[in-house]
Amino acid sequence: MASNPLWTRAAQLREQLHKHNFLYYVLDQPEIPDAEYDRLFQELRDLEAAHPELVTPDSPTHRVGGQPLEAFAPVRHTVPMLSIHTETSAGGAAAFDAQVRRRLDLGKDAPPIEYICELKFDGLAVNLRYENGILTQAATRGDGEIGEEVTQNVRTIKTVPLRLQGAAPEVLEVRGEVYISRPDFERYNAQQRAAGRPTLVNPRNGAAGSLRQLDPTLTAQRPLSFFAYGLGETRGWTAPATHSAVLDVLAAWGLPVSSERTVTQGAEGLLAFHRVIAEKRDALPFDIDGVVYKVNRLDWQQRLWRQQQRQNLLAREPHWAIAHKFPAQEELTVVEAIEVQVGRTGALTPVARLKPVFVGGVTVTNATLHNADEVARKDVRVGDTVIVRRAGDVIPEVVGVVLKRRPPDAQPFVMPETCPVCGSHIARPQGEAVARCLGGLCCRAQCKEAILHFASRRAMDIEGLGDKLVEQLVDRDLVRSPADLYALSAGTLASLERMAAKSATNLIEALERSKTTTLARFLYALGIREVGVATASALATHFSALEALMAADEEQLQQAPEIGPVVAAAIRAFFQEPHNQQVITRLQAAGVCWPDPVRPADSQQLAGLTFVLTGTLESLTRDEAADRLRALGAKVSSMVSQKTHYLVVGRDAGSKLDKARKMGVAVLNEAELRVFLGWQ
Ligand code: IVH
Repeated sequence: MASNPLWTRAAQLREQLHKHNFLYYVLDQPEIPDAEYDRLFQELRDLEAAHPELVTPDSPTHRVGGQPLEAFAPVRHTVPMLSIHTETSAGGAAAFDAQVRRRLDLGKDAPPIEYICELKFDGLAVNLRYENGILTQAATRGDGEIGEEVTQNVRTIKTVPLRLQGAAPEVLEVRGEVYISRPDFERYNAQQRAAGRPTLVNPRNGAAGSLRQLDPTLTAQRPLSFFAYGLGETRGWTAPATHSAVLDVLAAWGLPVSSERTVTQGAEGLLAFHRVIAEKRDALPFDIDGVVYKVNRLDWQQRLWRQQQRQNLLAREPHWAIAHKFPAQEELTVVEAIEVQVGRTGALTPVARLKPVFVGGVTVTNATLHNADEVARKDVRVGDTVIVRRAGDVIPEVVGVVLKRRPPDAQPFVMPETCPVCGSHIARPQGEAVARCLGGLCCRAQCKEAILHFASRRAMDIEGLGDKLVEQLVDRDLVRSPADLYALSAGTLASLERMAAKSATNLIEALERSKTTTLARFLYALGIREVGVATASALATHFSALEALMAADEEQLQQAPEIGPVVAAAIRAFFQEPHNQQVITRLQAAGVCWPDPVRPADSQQLAGLTFVLTGTLESLTRDEAADRLRALGAKVSSMVSQKTHYLVVGRDAGSKLDKARKMGVAVLNEAELRVFLGWQ
């Protein structure tokens, strides 16, 4: 078979797809465009369909899911999958360290113990079995002794390598957690909601439910990810001396291992890690429910485990590790009212007013119910006891109702038939989940949101124009469109509540400063549906002049990068509306302008260079620096990769700087950036 050209081609394709998969999903550094990947993938799929004998167990085509199963086959774990003792109190780390020292019989004067600290991922534990580097079996934890075989489903997880990189042992069992990242969870649920289909309750249940689907094509549609954190059975391999070194080896084989891991000494080291991660928890792109401390030396882990087994044959929680938990991200509370909020685009969102509850580290009093369909599906009623979830900086959400605690008189929620703010009609286009108020800027709620958006940092950046002030301006009919802002006088402003003469003049100055802006910011500030910061920037670059953009038809709009038919239609509809044209004319008449950022001859002086910005800059924000770099033709990316030419660092630069140094990417500080760009 080896000399068969088709076989050779299939092997080549598999090789390339494995590599690009790894670059894309694990390292986040794609080297080829998606379309090229799709082409390679399709070629392999066609080849395998025509010649089934070419299919191998590690073929990347398996990721799309195979035949549905009748039931899951049981799998006996050759090395049991253990649980972990959990501590919640601050004293947990010190108590653990003291116990480990005592159990290892280390004297008082022995040096501090070395630990590896990891995250406690909130998903579902799995065991992945690799034989000679090929993924041959995946199983859930089950009761620790016997789990369920979920090989087909695990093969659909993009970050799980189907084949290890480099020389691999005869048998290697890798243990880790299957999870769904927060952005993937939000995206998936938003799609489901928009299509009127059921949403996932939370990332953890979503991950567990997806993995236990009998039909792997369904699993393939769920955005699952994986982190490795340990080993099961191994054969034909000598493990390194420490757990931290094991994780390094796993990463080198191409397995995803979280970079949030640290080797520390003693109880103080453990607590320091706990503090750092507690601080970072909200910013992580996935849920964790705590941190895990493990004795780093594997010989000590074994010593503790043997000792423990001698004492108690049923031991399930090894003495070499504990989990130190954080406050829960889901709690119970009571719905006191359900109100309907009107957003900038008129979208009506039912919001549950809650009895205050401490969840995910903050006190929550409101939670979104998304839309009428969601309220109906979850059947949330005033008086109900509900599960509230707050994870990361995501808006708190009602996950479900505890029906057993429903009071007998609880009334189902009904969506109002007219806008609760302005009384205008409400429209809910067929096939859409969202109902909208048709009042436009006449609706005070929409008007307030539009003004706040216009003034926001990434739009016109009008400092001092906060929600309390906008509320008064709109309620007193002083401002009914963004253009009215520039007609305000210091005298009028000073007459408002909580506005002194000084703050009034400050705001007038801020308004004055905001008049000179960029086309990209101006477009974003207009609040056109479907046009976020990135789209606004793409439109500004593509059309250069507002007049050209306003005159463009849908076909011309779609010539701009990443503008599809939906966005094009939204832009066209916005500029065709006479009221919007008027607002734009008035804004320009008031002096809003966007001078050409650079002389045309110079404008592309940074073309071909990719920059990444990190940390806090002093003299301008990162967004501003990015705008200026883009204006000079540079590409600004959010991730350091082989393609990065310069990393610009501000104060408190973190992992990006480490990564840039490791990869040999040139680093500029703010002063150097300014000199480099001739801004001094
Ligand atoms: S080690 C003690 N490490 O926590 C040895 N478990 O184990 C066995 N978990 O459902 C586990 N993150 O899936 C270990 N970094 C981590 C972990 C972790 C999450 C989960 C694991 C299991 C539970 C108890």
